[in-house]
Amino acid sequence: VTRGSLDRDARAEVDRLARLGLARAPTGAGAGLDLVTNDYLGLRDDPRVLAAARAALERRGLGAGAARLLGGDHPEHRALEAAFARAHGEEAAVLFPSGSAANQGVLGALLRPGDLAVCDARNHGSLVDGVRLSRARRAIVPHGDVLAVEDALRKDAGGGRRFVVLEGVHGMEGDVAPLADLADVCRRLDALLVVDEAHAAGVVGPDGAGAAALAGVEDVVAARVVPLGKAFGGAGGVVTASAAVCDEVVHRARAYLFATALPPAVAAGVAEAHRLARAEPERRARATALARRLAGVLEEAGARVAGRGAAVVSWILGSAAAALDAAAALRARGVEARAVRPPTVPEGEARVRLSCHASPSDAEVERAAEALREAATRAAAVPARG
Ligand SMILES: Cc1ncc(COP(=O)(O)O)c(C=O)c1O
Repeated sequence: VTRGSLDRDARAEVDRLARLGLARAPTGAGAGLDLVTNDYLGLRDDPRVLAAARAALERRGLGAGAARLLGGDHPEHRALEAAFARAHGEEAAVLFPSGSAANQGVLGALLRPGDLAVCDARNHGSLVDGVRLSRARRAIVPHGDVLAVEDALRKDAGGGRRFVVLEGVHGMEGDVAPLADLADVCRRLDALLVVDEAHAAGVVGPDGAGAAALAGVEDVVAARVVPLGKAFGGAGGVVTASAAVCDEVVHRARAYLFATALPPAVAAGVAEAHRLARAEPERRARATALARRLAGVLEEAGARVAGRGAAVVSWILGSAAAALDAAAALRARGVEARAVRPPTVPEGEARVRLSCHASPSDAEVERAAEALREAATRAAAVPARG
């Protein structure tokens, strides 16, 4: 291999993806109404959040300076961990520099070779990576299929410990996982849940504590992961669990051990956002009401919709081209939403993902509803393309 041949290989692969309509590039949220970012509660730029972060920035400097175990531990990290442990009724919590790192870290540390991980086929890539890292045995089950989980657990004769790994609210589908039923299966068949609360935390459950709390299944939860870049408007990822499990994570998770800690200013801002999310429940009520409203508008216009009950709505169009067209039509009406295409979603299920926020005014909500109605009616009139 040479740099020249490497570049040719890389270019050929990107060209291949582009021919499939799968070219990608970083984008900002755009100038229109934001149905793109995961700032569900509108806390990312709340003045109180910024003030908390600014104060910590002045106190601690820009970064943590080192990994937590090597001089990078700051009081802001501990305060954030304590707040999430309390909110989840757990003994402890461990903070990672990102949600992806938290998923990789907790799964890689907790699951052992010989254990079984029953994984939802549409799990986030970082859950997939975490399970792979652990070298646990895997059973992949269709999204949201409780009977398939039960079947996988019944068939397993491996003798290891058994875990069901999934998202509490799916980030692309927007549906709330059937956790009450899954917990039932876990209780009967000797398994525990690992729940990624990325799109559930702050949005569903008592005080916004997430999907596991909403279902009341904490007795069969091994660990919960809360990525902090969504409803809490910052960055990082926190794992909540028993003290023993958190201790093992601290000792074994490479994504914790060998990573510069989250900037303390971000930890302080997220802690304030978490406080506000709990203190101002109208934020999650507005975000989820908007999701129900937009899903209803789409369905009335004959569109295929996934997601209800949280803040994510997926308008499924089929082909990548149709999803791109629909997103462009929305943008022309001042509404920013992104087309999501394979491999992020399965082939033939390209969609426009609508990320519903607390912040839009009533007039903006009406404008978004009207834009969607128009775009969906237009899409329904266009013959399906491959
Ligand atoms: C379900 C889910 N889990 C984990 C993550 C990763 O979190 P982070 O962006 O903090 O790495 C994301 C999003 O990025 C997500 O959607």
